[in-house]
Amino acid sequence: MPPIVEIQNYTWRYLHADVPALQDINLTIEEGSFVGVIGPNGSGKTTLAYSLNGLIPGQYQGIKEGTVKIAGTEVESYRPGELPQMVGVVFSDPEAQFTAMTVEDELVFGMENLGLSIPEIRERLEWVTDLTQLKPLLEKPPYEISGGQKQRVALAAVLAMMPRVMVLDEPTSMLDPMSRKRVFDVLARLKRESHNTIIVIEHNLENLVPLADRMILLHNSRMALSDGTEPFFRQVDTLTEAGVYPPGGIAFFHALMKHGAFAGELPLTLDAAVARLEGLMSHE
Ligand SMILES: Nc1ncnc2c1ncn2[C@@H]1O[C@H](COP(=O)(O)OP(=O)(O)OP(=O)(O)O)[C@@H](O)[C@H]1O
Ligand SMILES: [Mg+2]
Repeated sequence: MPPIVEIQNYTWRYLHADVPALQDINLTIEEGSFVGVIGPNGSGKTTLAYSLNGLIPGQYQGIKEGTVKIAGTEVESYRPGELPQMVGVVFSDPEAQFTAMTVEDELVFGMENLGLSIPEIRERLEWVTDLTQLKPLLEKPPYEISGGQKQRVALAAVLAMMPRVMVLDEPTSMLDPMSRKRVFDVLARLKRESHNTIIVIEHNLENLVPLADRMILLHNSRMALSDGTEPFFRQVDTLTEAGVYPPGGIAFFHALMKHGAFAGELPLTLDAAVARLEGLMSHE
């Protein structure tokens, strides 16, 4: 089976832009993996999301070189409406995507458009509302719920379409820490229970890192790093150059490494960091 995402020698320059938004990108993503994408403002993260769901080159004008394939087929070769079923995207401003009068209608709308049967729609509605804990809100108008709830509605609406690839572009940038965690709780459950490929673009690394199988760093339109999550965070110089500040636990172990006080595998969660530190102390 071809990889779910295969990008080769890909360069995209928006019309009238002086420099490409993405340059010389080579990236293969295996189905079922959880990928974190980070990088400074303007490094090309959203452009990457657009490139995967066909908005580029469909909706945006520009000059493309190289290929972007989803499940072995180039994005340009999908029939209209076909690609969004393969690649679902959730943006940071969910309101812009809402069209219905109730949360339930918002979730059902996309499934009706897919032409699903009523029993199938009921089953998926049950599944996504359970996963995203939206049951108590189904009758509410989408504009009368909180930002965190809106983001879970946007996530549920995309999930209900069951795309093989989910791309989340800074899904929690407008949320408080608790709501942020709830969105990531949904992603954690999705990772455990489904075979979806999940690509999360995020500035806030605290919740992302423990879930990510691998990480990608975009910097100045190029892919500066692409690696398994632990080896990714070992490349301190490249991360620092791009202004990436790892979560507290990792940063602490970076400092220990710098002072020659630690040389093992980096702990990626706070619990792992505590355990590692206890291990170090008990050896003294
Ligand atoms: N529609 C457009 N037309 C022309 N240039 C664009 C367009 N959209 C984005 N760009 C440019 O492409 C580059 C990459 O933008 P992009 O939005 O992909 O970055 P990003 O990494 O998502 O940034 P952020 O963290 O701020 O969301 C930037 O230089 C931006 O100015
Ligand atoms: Mg962006």
